[in-house]
Amino acid sequence: MTGLLAFIRAVHLGALVLLMGVFAFLLLVARPAFRKADPQRTPDLERFDRLLLTIGKWSLLATFVSALLWLGLQAALASGQPLTQALNLDTLSGLLSGTQFGRVWEIRIALVALLAGFLFFRDREHDVRDWNALRLEGVLLAGGLMAALAWAGHPAATEGPARSIHLLADTVHMLAAGVWLGGLCPLAVLLRWAHRSPDASWIAVAREATRRFSLLGLVSVSTLTLTGVVNGWILVGSIPPLVGTPYGRLLLLKLVLLLPLVGFAATNVLRLKPALLATAAQKSPGGAQAVLSRLTRNVIAEASLGAAILLIVGGLGITPPAIHDQPSWPFPFRVSWQATQDLPGVRGGVIAGGAGVLLGIGVLAYGLRKRRQYPWVIGLGSALVLCFLAIPLYYLSVDAYPTTYLRTPVPYQAISIASGARLYQQHCTVCHGEAGYGDGPAIRGRASARADLTAPHTALHTAGDLFWWLTHGIRGSPMPGFKDSLTDEERWDLINFLRALAAAEQARAMLPLVEQTPWLVAPDFAYGIGVGEGQTLRDSRGWAIVHLVLFTLPSSIQRLEQLDAAAGKIAGAGARILAVPMRDAAQVYRRLGARAVTLPVAVEGSEEIVETYAMFRRTLAVEGLPAEPAHMEFLVDRQGYIRARWIPPEQPGWDDLTSLLGEIERLDKEAPRAPAPDEHVH
Ligand code: HEC
Repeated sequence: MTGLLAFIRAVHLGALVLLMGVFAFLLLVARPAFRKADPQRTPDLERFDRLLLTIGKWSLLATFVSALLWLGLQAALASGQPLTQALNLDTLSGLLSGTQFGRVWEIRIALVALLAGFLFFRDREHDVRDWNALRLEGVLLAGGLMAALAWAGHPAATEGPARSIHLLADTVHMLAAGVWLGGLCPLAVLLRWAHRSPDASWIAVAREATRRFSLLGLVSVSTLTLTGVVNGWILVGSIPPLVGTPYGRLLLLKLVLLLPLVGFAATNVLRLKPALLATAAQKSPGGAQAVLSRLTRNVIAEASLGAAILLIVGGLGITPPAIHDQPSWPFPFRVSWQATQDLPGVRGGVIAGGAGVLLGIGVLAYGLRKRRQYPWVIGLGSALVLCFLAIPLYYLSVDAYPTTYLRTPVPYQAISIASGARLYQQHCTVCHGEAGYGDGPAIRGRASARADLTAPHTALHTAGDLFWWLTHGIRGSPMPGFKDSLTDEERWDLINFLRALAAAEQARAMLPLVEQTPWLVAPDFAYGIGVGEGQTLRDSRGWAIVHLVLFTLPSSIQRLEQLDAAAGKIAGAGARILAVPMRDAAQVYRRLGARAVTLPVAVEGSEEIVETYAMFRRTLAVEGLPAEPAHMEFLVDRQGYIRARWIPPEQPGWDDLTSLLGEIERLDKEAPRAPAPDEHVH
């Protein structure tokens, strides 16, 4: 049924485009052309006008019928009924009431009724003003019918500040398509009549109409390109969704059809139009007839390609936008500067290739200038460009898989990382080792550098690459796939764990000082402090620095009292404290006893928080994985990055409160920056 819906939508669009085109053509092209060519030729104009208005009436009828079918199908899809039952007043009014979709369609039905009134029950037109008024009303109402579609389609669902830009771009895109594509059919009729008529002044009309229409086409095509790029940017955004989702591939097909369409249009404007205008000077009706017949053929070809494009557009409207879809990458490689820039030879290869491409462009430009004398130089230039382009592509390409560009559906949160850590213990330590260094009992002795999961080379891979390996294994290595033993979600948990593991390795260099590096994305977590609703670390983003204190009783008790006494100063410097018990959260208040500690203590959710943040205990001082400390403190900045860490008894540390306050103030003074990314990016 969705295929039928796509088809009906295309028919509806086609009818609307024609409606718009007919009126716009009469107003902007036909009338001025007839008047300029021969002011006396009103009977011909009237005949042409009558025909176009008839086409307009039929288009309006088609618009109306296809609108009903569209609504019926939509109702049938929404209610699960067959179309014949869904097409009744109750279901339709149910669909129309309440929703934005419904309101937009009520307005559209009113516009159709209004236009029908103007078209079918018009009075005699007494003068030019009457004549113009009706055609202008036609353009405006057909334009309104098109514009309203944007409010019931993808643009209306766009969120944030891009919404109004998208609505505007989509509306203008459709109007431009209406004027241009819709005008092709009337143009073909006019050219055909001129071709058949023995009368020379008809040729003058055709000449003038062609001149005017090509101007209109130029403006429309430029507008279409510009607004199309904006729409594509908003709905697709990048290459992987373009080549890896149904929406993106339909869009590519549309572009593929657009190329010959623009090619025909360009031939008309650059070759045939000048040829036709030149026949005026030569006064040769025979020459003009020949050009006219080619022109007509091209215009009909353009219109057919336009109709095919509308079929695709009908499908695009009911396909989820690529940007919200998970792309499936079709190539076994991808090109990435980020992933390859530090590999040996890459920079040299890119520079050499770039220089070669420039050379090729130079040769090509020379060849184009001297194309009469040395046409082969053009071929040489193109060959050079292509060959040299292959060099950087070779160096910049890395292996890729269908899942390479999947976005992780499971956020980077303590609960997922903790679950990943447990799975890692069960399934991976035999080879990759407790700490991830690739030194598990099953692999020792024949360890490969890649089995070390903490090594920086993980920066080469996207989360989707990891997902592929965890699912299917790594070909030609002992690394097995876990498609059958772990669920999708468990594999994503493992990937979040691996991301935290790589970050934990970087944390080795972290000090109780805010330094330029490393910046580690702080895994988000949910917690409850016993009263009120649960909160998340993320809730503090943008407004507070978080001083995260992982403690153990009774050894941390003095430290907690010290922080409690300084809580006012710490808050004054811009941070809020969150204390997390490392053990026995339920017993915390009993253990604290009569001591007046008023710090917020995360009693709920502490297990995952501790499991995750204790990963960040690796230091440069200790080789491998140190034992779990009894107390750790972190500063998380307003963007959501871990920026400093203190593990007592490390010296110098934050037991000296002035140094802690100094670091908080340093973070407080930093200019706001982009928040930490949610996705696994390298
Ligand atoms: C039977 C041994 C074995 C088991 C079990 C195993 N791996 Fe591996 N894994 C390997 C080996 C060996 C490599 C290195 C492959 C290579 O050299 O191409 C590897 C590579 C990897 C890599 C790629 C690292 C990189 O940057 O290239 C990841 C990620 C990985 N393993 C994750 C896991 C996870 C997660 C688990 C548990 C669910 C797991 N592995 C279980 C043996 C194993």
